[in-house]
Amino acid sequence: MSKYIPNPPSAAALMASARSFGNYDLAGALSDLIDNSIKAEAKNISLTCLFNEGAPIVRILDDGYGMSPEELLKAMRPASADPREERSPDDLGRFGWGMKSASFSQCSQLTVLSRKDGCLSGAAWDLDDIDEWKMEVLNEGDVAELASPQLIDADGTEILWANCNRLSEDGEITSDAFNDLVVHARYRLALVFHKYLSGEAKRQRLIIKLNGQDIEAYDPFHRGHDATQQLELEELPVAGGKISIRPYILPHFSKLPLSDHAKLGGAEGFLRNQGFYVYRNDRLIIHGTWFRLAKYGELSQLVRISVDIPNSLDDMWKITVDKSDAQLPSALKARLRQIVDGLRGRSSKVFRSKGGRIDRSGETTIWNRHVRNGEIRYSINREHPIISHLTGSAGEVDRETINAALRLIEQSFPVTEFSADAANKNESLGQVESRPERFFEMLHATLPMMLSRHKGNIEGLVAELRVTEPYSLNWLVVEEFLKKEGWIHEQAR
Ligand SMILES: Nc1ncnc2c1ncn2[C@@H]1O[C@H](COP(=O)(O)OP(=O)(O)OP(=O)(O)O)[C@@H](O)[C@H]1O
Ligand SMILES: [Mg+2]
Repeated sequence: MSKYIPNPPSAAALMASARSFGNYDLAGALSDLIDNSIKAEAKNISLTCLFNEGAPIVRILDDGYGMSPEELLKAMRPASADPREERSPDDLGRFGWGMKSASFSQCSQLTVLSRKDGCLSGAAWDLDDIDEWKMEVLNEGDVAELASPQLIDADGTEILWANCNRLSEDGEITSDAFNDLVVHARYRLALVFHKYLSGEAKRQRLIIKLNGQDIEAYDPFHRGHDATQQLELEELPVAGGKISIRPYILPHFSKLPLSDHAKLGGAEGFLRNQGFYVYRNDRLIIHGTWFRLAKYGELSQLVRISVDIPNSLDDMWKITVDKSDAQLPSALKARLRQIVDGLRGRSSKVFRSKGGRIDRSGETTIWNRHVRNGEIRYSINREHPIISHLTGSAGEVDRETINAALRLIEQSFPVTEFSADAANKNESLGQVESRPERFFEMLHATLPMMLSRHKGNIEGLVAELRVTEPYSLNWLVVEEFLKKEGWIHEQAR
């Protein structure tokens, strides 16, 4: 018969190993602490992240209901809760590790001060002091000295990180690199907690300040914009819980001010940010993934699908300790794949609507369509200003070559392949440039020539651009570009 030997690891050893739990960066670690503040019904959270000459100071102060001295001691222990226990539906925690593992991913000295019903207490762990790997219970005087004035006056919790050797890369981090981390954290927190910051989560609106400045909610679906397509909500019953799914199609870049478009694309751009956005109790845990149900594609880059899951399904989704990852339960795969397949055409339709048009009265199109004796032929419009400039400004020999080239392009248009593609994979067809940078490069290249056609008359130029493809189809951004580059002023509109 097997013999079992009781061999409990010491709390200190457990705590030291917590340094490697999860895959936290500064933003991820702060998010885990914010989760706790939200659970404690905080309405205001104040984050301080200062470079302090390479020895960063980080504090997280909330005005939640705080902890009693006994609760604090329990909370400071490793694995302070059993992940198998059912949590209240609004609880963002699960493992009983977050506060410790998130903090030790960045620092080696963690001090937690809390005030509940007017009673202040404090405790600390110092992982550097290996001889004294014990939790320190602070006396009243120490707590009063360390706490922010706000905590002395009102209930709440304050977390202090000291010796942030991980965060500071052992003191090697430059002030610029530290600043980048803080900027990234602001952006990330604005996204992760956007439903709390905007007040749409099922609780009072949350205010988070980072270094004294409010973090503004960042809605990845841009729901406030008319051109965002909000598709139908689907609710799937799963294992006693409910999963809500709602797809969105974001507006084409021509419908947004440039700055909004850049913000919506995020640092990694639209291509990387397409796909599912999974929320657990209104808090974003994973975004910009297709769970391998689809490929990242140019034409699907405007699709973002919101998926809301309750904390009762954590096990099924395999939520990680750092709440930064989840796995799609196989029971959901088939339905989600159907939803994704149904969406394929919707995003590409947005791009197709920006493709060339035919025979628009009053507009100079790039392509013409001719029907004669029942035969259909497409030709490039020689009257289009860019084409006519090419032929007009060239010498005799070049003009003939250009005309020959245009005729070649028209005559060798791959009609058979195109017709087959259009019949079979209509939603995968797209010719239009999806990156605004490329569109602006084209503008840059053609504007001087267009202006010289109008002998420097800007009003004439603007009037022509308004009715000429592709400018006319993207007029808002063309106009914004002209203003930004100083071609036109507000009154020239
Ligand atoms: N800001 C806070 N206000 C009040 N109580 C807090 C606060 N932070 C932590 N606690 C208490 O400390 C406990 C431990 O927090 P910790 O983040 O380590 O684990 P958890 O939230 O239970 O689970 P998880 O590991 O999933 O985050 C919490 O359950 C909560 O009771
Ligand atoms: Mg927690």
